[in-house]
Amino acid sequence: GSDTQGSKAPLFDKLPKKIQKAGVVKVGTDAAYKPMEYKDGQEIVGLDPDLANAMGKQLGVRFEFTNGTFDGLITSMQTGRFDMIMSSMTDTKDRQEGLDDQGKKVGKGVDFVDYLTAGSSILVKKGNPENIKSVDELCGKKVATQRGTTSHEILKKQIDECKKNRERPLTIEPFDNDDEARVRLKAGGVVADISDFPVAANAAKSGNDFEVVGEQMESAPYGMAVSKGNDKLSGALKEALTKIIEDGSYEKALKKWGVE
Ligand code: ARG
Repeated sequence: GSDTQGSKAPLFDKLPKKIQKAGVVKVGTDAAYKPMEYKDGQEIVGLDPDLANAMGKQLGVRFEFTNGTFDGLITSMQTGRFDMIMSSMTDTKDRQEGLDDQGKKVGKGVDFVDYLTAGSSILVKKGNPENIKSVDELCGKKVATQRGTTSHEILKKQIDECKKNRERPLTIEPFDNDDEARVRLKAGGVVADISDFPVAANAAKSGNDFEVVGEQMESAPYGMAVSKGNDKLSGALKEALTKIIEDGSYEKALKKWGVE
């Protein structure tokens, strides 16, 4: 509402002073993940921006999304480029603790405010020409995914499974963003693209090129990420999230973007 601007907004006082002063929360995202976050011309739109805007009304500040490479978002936040990340990012222990995929400490880690649940799905060409039903059937094949994602992790684990079962090796072709991975799938360079279910489902129902096969894998919460120990900001986000769930704007945004 128009009466919830700035310091008059119900949750403005909960924000860190720095953000109160700026009047804006800077958000890092990878805007190639429709319907979660994507570019419409110059504007970044989607479910995540809509949820942020709804929270912004409660907090009395604007959420300003900046596009970046998913695999570098946490590092960019830690160098101060933005205050938080909202990018369909799965709340994982490794990210909380700042570990890379080998378990090596590479950063100080992040705190998450969980807001949605989703797992990974297999997207193939319409008609499923290779008859793929699960990741077990990807041995001997070439598969695209987005670098540094939980889907990428699932495929790395599957490489080991293929080895263990003495099957032909699985080859991962990682891309900086999922749009590029899907272009590769469409061109026939890979047999599948692994991404989060809401994104795969959206690609399947827009146009006639793709379909989702098999079950959703490793469902887990998405979290808004803040730098570790930024309790003031995560606390404010948590309260704003509760508010928009209570007042129905959360549910409305999910419906609008076809995400359940
Ligand atoms: N949920 C997955 C992860 O955290 C993928 C997120 C990719 N997000 C994006 N905006 N491209 O790894």
